[in-house]
Amino acid sequence: MAKVGLSNFGDDWAYIYDELFQDRDDLSVVSETLASLAGDGPVLEFGIGTGRLALPLAERGLKVYGIDNSEEMLRRMWAKPGADKITAIIGDCTKDSIGEAGAFSLVFIAFTTLFLLGPQDVQIECFKNAARHLRKGGVFVVEAFVHDRTRFHQWQEVVTTKVGDNVVGFRVGMLDPVNQVLRTQHIELTPDGIKFRPNWLRYVYPSEMDLMARLAGMRLRERWSSWSRAPFTAESSTQIGVYEKVAD
Ligand SMILES: C[S@@+](CC[C@H](N)C(=O)[O-])C[C@H]1O[C@@H](n2cnc3c(N)ncnc32)[C@H](O)[C@@H]1O
Repeated sequence: MAKVGLSNFGDDWAYIYDELFQDRDDLSVVSETLASLAGDGPVLEFGIGTGRLALPLAERGLKVYGIDNSEEMLRRMWAKPGADKITAIIGDCTKDSIGEAGAFSLVFIAFTTLFLLGPQDVQIECFKNAARHLRKGGVFVVEAFVHDRTRFHQWQEVVTTKVGDNVVGFRVGMLDPVNQVLRTQHIELTPDGIKFRPNWLRYVYPSEMDLMARLAGMRLRERWSSWSRAPFTAESSTQIGVYEKVAD
């Protein structure tokens, strides 16, 4: 599918995604928290990817749906055991629909996917699309990092990610603080050549996220800093907002 917004994350990262991120979270904790919010379901994940979070949820017996704009990511999910229980489409989670409108108890977008969608207007459309899928009282859960401006010197950063006998990896980033945009390039040098993994994202702080939710007819019910529901504080590097749909 053609790239949406300015990120082509799925297709650019699919080949190495599970190797890098499959063990990023304690999946039993994530699925326990999501399942307790979902009740009987059904559940929809925006940016379902390779099914890292959706598959354990489906294993619990919940009906799980997904939308992803990368065929490369979905192909990897469909090859995994249990994927036949999930209904997923290639599409854009800021505007496409799946399942019955107004029927979902839980819609979620995890691992900073909201930031990949595009500029502010597009991110707001994602909240509105979540609200269209949710029933009244259902929740939209958004997990993302909290942008840390102190990492950057003169709006730039360079981080070494790998050093080995035959490999060097590093990440370079440039920040546009006016538009809240961070462009990064993950570079790996080996005797076989150079590998680039680009990324583009527009970061959002909790206060702006709350406003996006209000524009979509939802209000903040809770905010945590981890899937085990640790309180969100000034030191938190992760934000998990739980937004409840207040009106039909
Ligand atoms: C960081 S990955 C997260 C994947 C999965 N949710 C997880 O936690 O492992 C982001 C995913 O969002 C997808 N994505 C990016 N923009 C999208 C869009 N506009 N609509 C649907 N999916 C999108 C990417 O293809 C990718 O699979």
